[in-house]
Parts: sequence; C-alpha cells; structure tokens
Amino acid sequence: MNVLSIPSFTNLGYRLHSRDFEPIDSDLTGQTVVITGATGGLGLAAAKKIAALGARTVVVARSEKKLAAVESSAEGEVVTYKADLSLMSEIRRLVDELLAGEERIDVLINNVGVLLPERSVTSEGLERSFAVDLAGHFLLTNLLADRLVQSSPARVVNITSGGMYSEKIRPHDLQNERGEYKGSAAYARAKRGQVILTGMWAERFHGTGVTVHAMHPGWAKTSGVANSLPTFNKLMQPLLRTPEEGADTIVWLAAEEEPAKTSGLLWFDREPVAEHIFDRTRESAKDRAELWDRLSELTGSDFPEHLRSAAH
Ligand SMILES: NC(=O)c1ccc[n+]([C@@H]2O[C@H](COP(=O)([O-])OP(=O)(O)OC[C@H]3O[C@@H](n4cnc5c(N)ncnc54)[C@H](OP(=O)(O)O)[C@@H]3O)[C@@H](O)[C@H]2O)c1
Repeated sequence: MNVLSIPSFTNLGYRLHSRDFEPIDSDLTGQTVVITGATGGLGLAAAKKIAALGARTVVVARSEKKLAAVESSAEGEVVTYKADLSLMSEIRRLVDELLAGEERIDVLINNVGVLLPERSVTSEGLERSFAVDLAGHFLLTNLLADRLVQSSPARVVNITSGGMYSEKIRPHDLQNERGEYKGSAAYARAKRGQVILTGMWAERFHGTGVTVHAMHPGWAKTSGVANSLPTFNKLMQPLLRTPEEGADTIVWLAAEEEPAKTSGLLWFDREPVAEHIFDRTRESAKDRAELWDRLSELTGSDFPEHLRSAAH
C-alpha cells in the first residue's frame, strides 16, 4: 500500500478490484448478525444484503422512525434495537437487551461512526467522536465477548477508514483535548485506534473460535460523508462508490469462509492491506498497552479474563 493507491478508494478502484469477485452467496440461515449504525449508509446496505443471505439481522441505531423504516422495508428477518451509541450507559442497556433477546451472536459488526466538525461532549462527559468511534466499540465488544465465544465460530468486523492512514494514535489524548480540535484528525485517530484494537482483540480471542477483522470501505456516497465533508462530497460525487460497493467487504468478511481463516488483519476490497503508509503513524507496544488501559478506565470494561486463560 502506498500513496499512489489512494485513487483506489474511488469507484474506479472498486471496478478494478471487483473484476474477479465471486458473488457472495453463503447461506447464513440460523446465524445472528448484529450491526450498529445501520439505518443508513454502508450499515444499511450491509444489513439488507446480510438479511437477504438468511441471517437474523439485528440493526442497532438511535432513531425509532428510521429503525421502523428499516424493519418494514428489508427482505428477510430484521429486528431492531434502539440505542444512542455515544452513551456508555445506553450501550450497557443495549447489551442487557441483546443478551436477553438474542440466544446467539455469530457476527458483531462495529459500523457506527461519526466525523464531527465541532468538538462536543456527551452528557457522560466523553468527547463525542471518541465516544462513538472508539470507546463505544470497545465497550460493546468486550461486553458481548462471552456471547460471541458461546456462538463460535464467530466474528467481529470493525469498520475503520482510510483516513486513519494519516494519523498516529495518541493514547494520552484520546478525547482530543490538546491543541486545536480538528474533526477529521479526531476521527482519523479514533479509526487508527480501531485498527489497533482489532489486533489486540485477535490476540485475546485467539483459541476461542472468534476471529476479528478490520476493513475500510474506500469513499462511498452516504449521508455521513455529505454532512461531515460537504466540499469533498461535492467535488468527488462522480467518483464515490455506491453504499453497496462500500459495504461489499463488510458483507464478505461477515459471511464468507475465506476471511475467517485469519484474524487481526485490515482488509480493503477483500484483500488484506498494510496498516501504515507512513512510518510516523506507527505506534509502539507501550502506546498499544496505554490505549487499552485508558479505554478500559474510561468505559469501565475489559476483555473477560476467563476467556483469555481458557484459550491459552
Ligand atoms: N461513507 C464513506 O465513504 C466512509 C469512508 C470511510 C469510513 N466509513 C465508515 O463507515 C461507517 C459507516 O459510515 P456511513 O458513511 O455509512 O455513515 P452514515 O451515513 O452517517 O450512517 C451512520 C449510521 O450510524 C447511525 N448513528 C450515528 N450516530 C449514532 C449514535 N450516536 N447512536 C446510534 N446510531 C448512530 C446513523 O443514524 P442517524 O441517522 O440517526 O444519525 C446511521 O444509521 C462509519 O464507521 C464510517 O466512519 C465510511
């Protein structure tokens, strides 16, 4: 991966890469797939395809109206849970409801993500983009780890962004308090954090039958991009991928056999790709450990210790 491959994020890249793609046709009957932030954009495109493949598809988002629209329009078995995923208390309530309502969770797709031009803080005191893009994923995955292992073979799929190639993690400033706040940099650092966590969860789940994957979708036409990057959205319109093209690798990672033979990798258009373009973004082992400890402290959660000791 180098800077020259950035044009591959467009629909031209998708056209080129997808020439040899086989249609995704796995039968997911009997499986339950949970996907966050799936009332619009890539999440909705992925949820529709996953439901059409036969999975019980659990859509999580915050708008009751949009959730009802998804439930009534999708083909297949789609159920919805309402939660504001910027709030750790709502994620804890959601997990209680999921554990009571879903006997198995075969796939967890951490898709929700926001790029916020202005810095803001949730009612729980966390910087909002950090809360949605990183802390929430950390909490949800740790709290669902036992159910994933009970349902294994199972998978976690984390949706990151190519934007993370420009940033290094700052474990000491996860909430973007130092210096001037820049939405795209805050977003990119959280997305970098997701890639790091993918590797750390892969180590922790090792031997349990749960694999962990990260992917970035390139640039796709969604209301998230239109609202958070209006100029980019306008200039790039003819080159943006459709939501279905952006979601292709999400569905492939969730459904097909091949990716489940691996764990801890970053994928783009169904291929494993490098986690860094620039040396300056590389984190140390100390950074990784600090990231985990800080997230653990801020969310009051950790990976279940008994799963680690059972697997190793
Ligand atoms: N589109 C791209 O080109 C692109 C590129 C790189 C990475 N990504 C990543 O791909 C993922 C999906 O992006 P997208 O462009 O499809 O986003 P999107 O169009 O903004 O859709 C995001 C979804 O998340 C929901 N959501 C937002 N905040 C929420 C919250 N606090 N609680 C619960 N649900 C919430 C939204 O519901 P509401 O309608 O209620 O807000 C919507 O269903 C994100 O992680 C994004 O960072 C996208």
